[in-house]
Amino acid sequence: MKRSKRRVLVTGGAGFIGSHIADAYLAAGEDVWIVDNLSSGRRENVPSKAEFLELDIRDDDVRSLFQEVRFDLVNHHAAQIDVRTSVLDPMKDASINVHGLLNLTEAAMEVGVERFIYVSSGGVVYGEPEELPTPETAPKSPLSPYGVTKLTGEHYLYYYQAIRGLEYVALRYANVFGPRQDPHGEAGVVAIFCDRLLSGEPLTIFGEGEQTRDYVYVGDVVAANMLASDTLMAEGIGLDTRAFNVGTGSRTSVNQLADMLESIAGNPCGRNRQPARPGELRHSALNSGRLRKCGWAPAHTLEEGLRETFDYIANQRAGATE
Ligand SMILES: NC(=O)c1ccc[n+]([C@@H]2O[C@H](COP(=O)([O-])OP(=O)(O)OC[C@H]3O[C@@H](n4cnc5c(N)ncnc54)[C@H](O)[C@@H]3O)[C@@H](O)[C@H]2O)c1
Repeated sequence: MKRSKRRVLVTGGAGFIGSHIADAYLAAGEDVWIVDNLSSGRRENVPSKAEFLELDIRDDDVRSLFQEVRFDLVNHHAAQIDVRTSVLDPMKDASINVHGLLNLTEAAMEVGVERFIYVSSGGVVYGEPEELPTPETAPKSPLSPYGVTKLTGEHYLYYYQAIRGLEYVALRYANVFGPRQDPHGEAGVVAIFCDRLLSGEPLTIFGEGEQTRDYVYVGDVVAANMLASDTLMAEGIGLDTRAFNVGTGSRTSVNQLADMLESIAGNPCGRNRQPARPGELRHSALNSGRLRKCGWAPAHTLEEGLRETFDYIANQRAGATE
C-alpha cells in the first residue's frame, strides 16, 4: 500500500550533501522544505520543487515554521563543518551545531515529528581509531571542537529518544565526495584536487601524503538517508544502537587519490609538498556492517565516483566561462 506524502524538512539543503538528499525526497514523491542560511550553501543547489526558506537554524522563526507545516520527518544536514573553524572559534561551532540542533529538536517535540535524521561524522567522533575499519562501538574520543559537537548532538538525541520519545537515527559519514562539493572550501580534497587539475596547478599535499581516508560517494550517502527515512532501525540501549557508519571500509591515501585524479584528468600537474598539518588524523575508515545488514551497500566504485565528480566540476567551469 502506498503511504501518503510526508512533509520533510531538510536543513542545509542548499549545501553539497543536503541538496542531493532534497532531490531524492522529491523523487520519492515527498513534499520538501529547505532551511538554509546560505553561509556555505548555494541558492542554485536548491531544487526548484522544494520550498526554500533562507533562515538560520537557531532562529525563532524555525519554531513557527514547525507549527505552520507540522513536519513528519526532519533530515538535519545544516552545520558548521570546518574542523579548523571549530578550533579557531569553538563558540561559533557549538552555537550552530549544538544550539541549532536544540532549536530543531525542541520544535520537533512540539509538533510530534515521526523521525529525526541526524548527521554525525565517523571521520571525527572516534578520534585516532585503534581499530580499522572502525565499528560504531569503538571508543569515541574526538580531537576537535567539531568532533565534540557532532558527538554531543548524538548524546542529545539519545536523551530525546529515551526520555521524550523522539525517534531518531544518527548517520556517521566517512569522507563524502561528489558533485556540488565546494572546491574552494577547506574540506573536500577531491573537489579541491579536481579544481586544481582543471586549472593546471600542482596538487598540494600535506606531510608524506600517506594519511588515508574512506571516500564514500554522495549517491551512496543519499541511499543511506533514504533507508534511514523508511526502515525501522534497531531498538536497544546506548548511543551506538541508534548510530550507523556510512563508509566503504576501504582506505585510500592522499597520494593514491592524487594519482587517480591525475590519470582521470589526463593532465599531470605535479605536487606542492607542504609540512604535515598538526592534529590531522593518520588513518580513518568505517566499518558499515550494521548498515549493510539493513540492505545498504556502496553502489559506486571510487573510480566511478571520481570520474563523475571530475566531469561535473569540468562542466561547471566550462559553464562559468561561456
Ligand atoms: N562532507 C563530508 O565529508 C561530511 C562528513 C561527515 C559529516 N558531514 C556532515 O554532513 C552535513 C552536510 O555537510 P556538507 O559537506 O554538505 O557541507 P555544506 O557546507 O555543503 O552544507 C552545510 C549547509 O548548512 C548550511 N548552514 C550552515 N550553518 C547554518 C545555519 N546556522 N543555519 C542554516 N543553515 C546553515 C550551509 O549554508 C550549507 O548549505 C554536515 O552536518 C556535516 O557535518 C559531512
